Amino acid sequence: MRQATFAVLSLLLLGPSLAVAAPHEDTRYLRSTSHHHAPRPWRRLTDAIIRRIWGVPEIQKGLGGTGRASAATDGDSAGKLLAQYAQYAQYGEDMVMRFNISTAEEASALAEASSILFLDVWEFNEDWVDIRLAKDVVPSLLGLLPASLQKSHVPLMQNLDLAQAVFDSYPSPSGTKSHDEDRSFSPTLGSSPHTERGNIFFQDYQPLSVISPWMSLMASMFTTHVRSINVGISYEGRDMPGLRVGVHPTNNEQPSGPRQTVLITGGSHAREWISVSTVNYLAWSLISSYGKMPSVTKLLEKYDFVFVPTLNPDGYVYSWETDRLWRKNRQPTNLRFCNGIDLDRSYSFEWDGESVRSNPCSESYAGEAPFAGVEAQRFAEWAKNETQNNNVEFVGFLDLHSYSQQILYPYSYSCDNEPPTSEDLQELGLGLAKAIRMSRKGHAYKVTSACEGNVAISKNIKGRNGRLVLPRIESSGGSALDWFYHELKVKYAYQIKLRDTGSYGFLLPKENIVPTGKEVLDAILYFGRFMLGEVGVLQWVVLQQVC
Ligand SMILES: *[C@@H]1O[C@H](CO)[C@@H](O)[C@H](O)[C@H]1NC(C)=O
Ligand SMILES: *[C@@H]1O[C@H](CO)[C@@H](O)[C@H](O)[C@H]1NC(C)=O
Ligand SMILES: [Zn+2]
Repeated sequence: MRQATFAVLSLLLLGPSLAVAAPHEDTRYLRSTSHHHAPRPWRRLTDAIIRRIWGVPEIQKGLGGTGRASAATDGDSAGKLLAQYAQYAQYGEDMVMRFNISTAEEASALAEASSILFLDVWEFNEDWVDIRLAKDVVPSLLGLLPASLQKSHVPLMQNLDLAQAVFDSYPSPSGTKSHDEDRSFSPTLGSSPHTERGNIFFQDYQPLSVISPWMSLMASMFTTHVRSINVGISYEGRDMPGLRVGVHPTNNEQPSGPRQTVLITGGSHAREWISVSTVNYLAWSLISSYGKMPSVTKLLEKYDFVFVPTLNPDGYVYSWETDRLWRKNRQPTNLRFCNGIDLDRSYSFEWDGESVRSNPCSESYAGEAPFAGVEAQRFAEWAKNETQNNNVEFVGFLDLHSYSQQILYPYSYSCDNEPPTSEDLQELGLGLAKAIRMSRKGHAYKVTSACEGNVAISKNIKGRNGRLVLPRIESSGGSALDWFYHELKVKYAYQIKLRDTGSYGFLLPKENIVPTGKEVLDAILYFGRFMLGEVGVLQWVVLQQVC
């Protein structure tokens, strides 16, 4: 057992030929140097779909234009081609449109039209609204919109085929990249997380069946400061795994107040893969820096960090195996053909299911009642139990999402109520954004209240703060952000929307995994210095005294 664990471990951490010994069936997603071609994600597509795809000549003709189809000379390329056909069948006729919104009438019309047409609203903020839809639905949508919106839209990802981008977000097929010298792995585990070459684990997005054993391995490798935990069981019966990282004082004379804990979560929306990889990257960086970087050692002696990369394991698996762009969880609704509840609208605080209640097919369906979403309910119960029975005090909550590069603080449900600590939230939020911007190759993140980050705002009309908050594209009640802030009294609660700003959206290429991880790591280290009183607080106190 010991040997086997070590073998798996060294393969995961050090070796290039992962597929041989890693424990679960989904290792097929990993790059492999073995000559046997492992089945890939599309394996589960039904024969019927595949026959249909192979049987449609127009699609084949269309594919010829991609320049890749002609490369089908061996089994591997044929598999790749087949996969592309499958993606075309699913997304080939889709596009993403970005609308500029500047009046209340426009916002209402767009909200109503996307609801009527069951459109998938990808992201919306004060500047734009992105909507994914089938190309042949465009005329219907435009027909429902006011004249002013007829011209204020652009197609996103114009030079990018949505189906191709979906395909590219899966790990490279076997053999194509494993001989690339640049990707060879040097065993840097344990050295600074800032080393140029990351762990091979972070060179691709990883499926749940690789993430879960990887987390267990972290716990068994670093027994001094890592514990494997489970924060709930999903609707389909999967674990919701987590890692608790921190070093508890052994000195019994120390007063044992509640253990201050920072909670970092990802994957509550299934398709936001970068949030999953980033939580793992942060976990790995802190874990491997303990005892090597004094600042991290100090941080982990004072605080626990709990990392939960996949709050929505069923949805994440579904997004890997069936529908890359799936967002919600997978539980049934009262409409037989529309599964799934939006977990980030499922929490009980200011739950607002009325607006989308009639529409379980909506991508933001909040369920029939607060906490109808199984994973949200169980996770909240776990967190509450930690504070009530396990001597934990959550002092920070960072819920990672994508995309649009924003740091959002409470409340998300409404702009009418300002949270009691909004100045502190804003202060630290700006600090986090600055840490990201100053990070090597760090991007620019905006800091705003979640209510504003989630609605269109007109800056031209005088309203509150000189801005007029327009009608919402979608309700943002029932968020995890608000619940943790308000119900669990987590002082520093943020939702961070990671890269990018719309070039790839949810289909962010894997080359961004490590850079995004690094920039957010710098934000976490800043957060740590802030909590330890090394930055921010002092200046802030002085400032308050002066004013
Ligand atoms: C949307 O607004 C931005 C700036 O507000 C402008 O640069 C852009 O051209 C507008 N796009 C469309 C399609 O109207
Ligand atoms: C709450 O915490 C206690 C003590 O650790 C544990 O025994 C119990 O199973 C927990 N309950 C839930 C619902 O997590
Ligand atoms: Zn999200």
